[in-house]
Amino acid sequence: MEKYLITGGTPLVGEVEIGGAKNAALAILAASIMTDETVTIENVPDVRDTNVMMQAMESIGAHIEKIDRHTFKINGSRIHNQVILNEGIKKIRASYYLIGALLGKYKNAEVPLPGGCHLGTRAIDQHIKGFRSLGATVNVRHGSVIAHTDNLHGSHIFMDKVSVGATINVIMAAVMAEGRTVIENAAKEPHVVDLANFLNSMGANIKGAGTDVVRINGVQKLHKSEYTIIPDQIEAGTYLMAAAATRGDITVKNVIPKHLECIYAKLNEIGCQVEESDDAVRVVATKRLGNTQVKTLPYPGFPTDMQPQMTAILGISQGISIVTESIFDSRFKYVDELTKMGSDIKVEGNTAIITGVDKYTGAEIAAPDLRAGAALVIAALTAEGDSVVTDIRYVQRGYEDFHLKLAKLGANIQLVEEDDEKKPESVFTAVVS
Ligand code: EPZ
Repeated sequence: MEKYLITGGTPLVGEVEIGGAKNAALAILAASIMTDETVTIENVPDVRDTNVMMQAMESIGAHIEKIDRHTFKINGSRIHNQVILNEGIKKIRASYYLIGALLGKYKNAEVPLPGGCHLGTRAIDQHIKGFRSLGATVNVRHGSVIAHTDNLHGSHIFMDKVSVGATINVIMAAVMAEGRTVIENAAKEPHVVDLANFLNSMGANIKGAGTDVVRINGVQKLHKSEYTIIPDQIEAGTYLMAAAATRGDITVKNVIPKHLECIYAKLNEIGCQVEESDDAVRVVATKRLGNTQVKTLPYPGFPTDMQPQMTAILGISQGISIVTESIFDSRFKYVDELTKMGSDIKVEGNTAIITGVDKYTGAEIAAPDLRAGAALVIAALTAEGDSVVTDIRYVQRGYEDFHLKLAKLGANIQLVEEDDEKKPESVFTAVVS
C-alpha cells in the first residue's frame, strides 16, 4: 500500500490545470453504452473510480479504445449480458449507474450493491423508487440489485430527498421509456447537467437539468456522440482550499468559475483574496484566516465534498467556527485524525464546533475516505514538521496525480510504498518525466 510523506510549512504558489469531473465522468461512462454506435469521450480523469467503471463495462462486452490518457472511444453494441460480476465494481459508489444505463437500454440489469466511501448509510431507495415508477420490477438479492421489465413507461416521480445519484439514474432509465417522465425535487449539481447534456448530444430529449424539475420525453434510440466532460468542481475547490490553508497563492485553470462560487465565497468570507476570470480562479491568503459558519447543502449550496477541507482550514483559523453536515450522517470521522495533529474540534451529531489553534503539528494519520484524505493532506501541508498519510488509495480514487500537482505548487510531498525500503519516488523525476 502507498502513503504520502509530507513536510509542512511551505506556502503553495502557482497554477494547476484542473481535470475532468470524476462524478460527471462516472455517470457519462455508464451512459455511453446506451447506444450501439461509437461514443468518444474527452477529459475523463485518470483516477481509480473511472478505471474501475470502464473495467466493469468491458466485463459485459463493451468495447473501449483508449485514444490517450483522458480520451476513450466506447461502443456498447457487443454487450452480451446485463449481469455485472466484476469484483472491482463493488468498491465504487457509482456502480449503480450501470443499473440505470442497462435498464434504460436493455430493460434488464443485475449489478452489485454499491460500495464507496463510508459516509454513513448510503441508501438507494430513491433509485429503486424511480425505477419501479417507470415500470421495472426491482429486487435486491444476494448483494445485487436486479431490475427488469418488458417495457419502461414515463412517470411523474417525486424524490423524497435530493439525491445526485438517484436523479442521474432515473434520467438514464427514462430516456428511452415510452412517453414523458417528470422528476420533481431533482438534484441540480453540475454533473447532473453534464450527464443530461451528454445524453441530449446522443439524441435524448431532456429539459430542465440543473433545476429541481427535470422533464424527459422518451426517444426510440440514441446515437453516436463526441463529448467533453466538464472540469471537476471539487478537485478545483480542493486546490483553492490548499492555497488558503498554506497562506499561498494558487490559480486553478480550465474551470467553470460559476461552479466554484459556493466554495470561494466562503474563502473570501474568512479573509482570502479571490480573483475570477473566464476559465480560472485565483485564491491568495496572506494572513491568518478568520472563523465562519458552514452548512453543507445540495448545489448551489456549499458542497458536502468540500466539508472536510473547509474544516481543516477552520481548525487553524482565528476564533470559533461551526460546520454542519446536512447531506451525510457520518462525515466527520477524519476529525479524530486532525486531533492527532493538535486540532481542537468537538463533534456533536452532524455538527463540528471548531476552536481554531495556532498550528497543526505533523503526525501519522489515516485517510478514512476520499475527500477527508485530501483534507488531511492539506492539514499536513500546513503542519509544523513531518506527517505520514496512510490509506491514500481513497485519495487516488478521485484525484489524478495529486502529489505531483501539489509538488509543482511547492509542496514537500513524496509518494512511497508502505513497506518499501527503496528511496522514495523522486517527485521531481516523476514531474519531469
Ligand atoms: C454523489 O453521491 C457523489 N458521488 C458524492 O461524492 C457526493 O458527496 C454526493 O453525490 C452529494 O453531492 C458520485 O457522484 C459518485 P446522494 P450520491 O444520492 O449520489 C441519501 C465524492 O467524494 N440517499 O446525493 O451517493 C444519501 O444517503 C463522493 O466524490 C438516500 O437516502 O449522493 C445521502 O445521505 C462522496 N436514498 C444523501 O441522500 C437514496 O436513494 C445524498 O446522497 C439516495 C441517497
